[in-house]
Amino acid sequence: MSTGLPTLELFDRYVIPTYGRFGLRLARGSGCRIWDEDGREYLDFGAGIAVTSLGHGHPRVVERLRQQVGELVHTSNLYYTRPQGELAKRLVDIVGAPGKVFFCNSGAEANEALYKLSRKFGNEANGFHSPAGPHSNPDAPLRRGIVTMNGSFHGRTLGGIAATGQDKVKKGFEPMIEGYKHIPFNNIAALNEAAEDPNMVAVLLEPIQGEGGIHPASPEYLRAARTLCERRSMLLLFDEVQCGLGRTGDWNGWDTLAPDVKPDAVSWAKGIAGGFPLGAIWVSARPVQMRSGEVKPLCDLLGPGTHGTTFGGTPLICSGALEVLSIIEDEHLLENARVLGKHAADSLRALHSPWIAEVRAVGLLLGIELATDFATRCPLPAGKAPSVFMVERLHEVGLLTIPSGTHVLRWLPPLNVQAADVDEAVRLLSSVLASLPQP
Ligand SMILES: Cc1ncc(COP(=O)(O)O)c(C=O)c1O
Repeated sequence: MSTGLPTLELFDRYVIPTYGRFGLRLARGSGCRIWDEDGREYLDFGAGIAVTSLGHGHPRVVERLRQQVGELVHTSNLYYTRPQGELAKRLVDIVGAPGKVFFCNSGAEANEALYKLSRKFGNEANGFHSPAGPHSNPDAPLRRGIVTMNGSFHGRTLGGIAATGQDKVKKGFEPMIEGYKHIPFNNIAALNEAAEDPNMVAVLLEPIQGEGGIHPASPEYLRAARTLCERRSMLLLFDEVQCGLGRTGDWNGWDTLAPDVKPDAVSWAKGIAGGFPLGAIWVSARPVQMRSGEVKPLCDLLGPGTHGTTFGGTPLICSGALEVLSIIEDEHLLENARVLGKHAADSLRALHSPWIAEVRAVGLLLGIELATDFATRCPLPAGKAPSVFMVERLHEVGLLTIPSGTHVLRWLPPLNVQAADVDEAVRLLSSVLASLPQP
């Protein structure tokens, strides 16, 4: 079967070069460890960008998938399959409010479903239903705009790059899909001002910005967003693709920041199935006043024929995800994420390194902000960002981490990481920092 060509040559010749890849050729993994084609071992503190939440090859997940592969892999969504229904219920329970779930394949696709939900809401509804409030008004202006945040990341589809608050993802793909209004994150005045625009129908935010460098929303900001969305009958949409389903030490990222706030809809992907491609949205069942006069649950706006995807919610992936979520519960991994996230953040701060400006951490979502003058104190190859330079130096000592922008290193280890692994990662980072030019 093998072509005999070296891996890098295969990529060079046959894979479209959309990614700036590091040179590692990874071959197998177990738990927190991963090995390259030459058998060199690495401690995996990237977890495939917050995806392999149980590390590599958890025996219970392997066994569940093995069984399900033999039983039923795919049927299409023309039929009912039990694992999809069970997983939907599990996710509704995790949110803790009545609603329903739609399954897809990735974070960008989950967010696409949120954009389409917002369109339906703005086109076909007047707003949330309130027995005392105004009823149907077929002539009310349509609302199609979505307020999103500077520094956000929502995926690489055309909708995703329009929603994302970073210019670098848009370059060369203009014109952008219209209707997204970007505002400074965590700025309540800017949020209130943006929502004055009568075209705005939703606010979309990551409770903790991940790709933007691990920046949590303040609890006051989340509360202000909820209050504003209530007042203007706008949807509050949380992108929990990176921060959701356990990483922060709670099932929901927003619960770690402001558990009293509930969104109207949520998107997930990444850690949801421990490494298998699955995305999903939860949508609240709260009643909506349709222009037609009908009152119906928000979660029924995307009705038959309005949205879909061939691979969404297959029995194979859903049973894998159910097992992943059960293991997180059975092995008390939410608590582990809280305890070891704090241990990692404390240990990193205790380094008192002049190369580290700040450590930001919410559970096992850690952002290590490198000093702003890093590049002036440490000569870097032309065009190389300090974050990428550090990630490469850490590869040399056997630690995988993820860069974020030019100055942030992300640590996103599996939720079942152990204290000894954290201590080893801190030691490896410390050794690399010690090898940099000393002041
Ligand atoms: C917050 C957030 N939303 C959406 C996405 C896009 O997810 P995917 O790459 O699965 O399309 C990402 C990916 O990094 C993300 O971090």
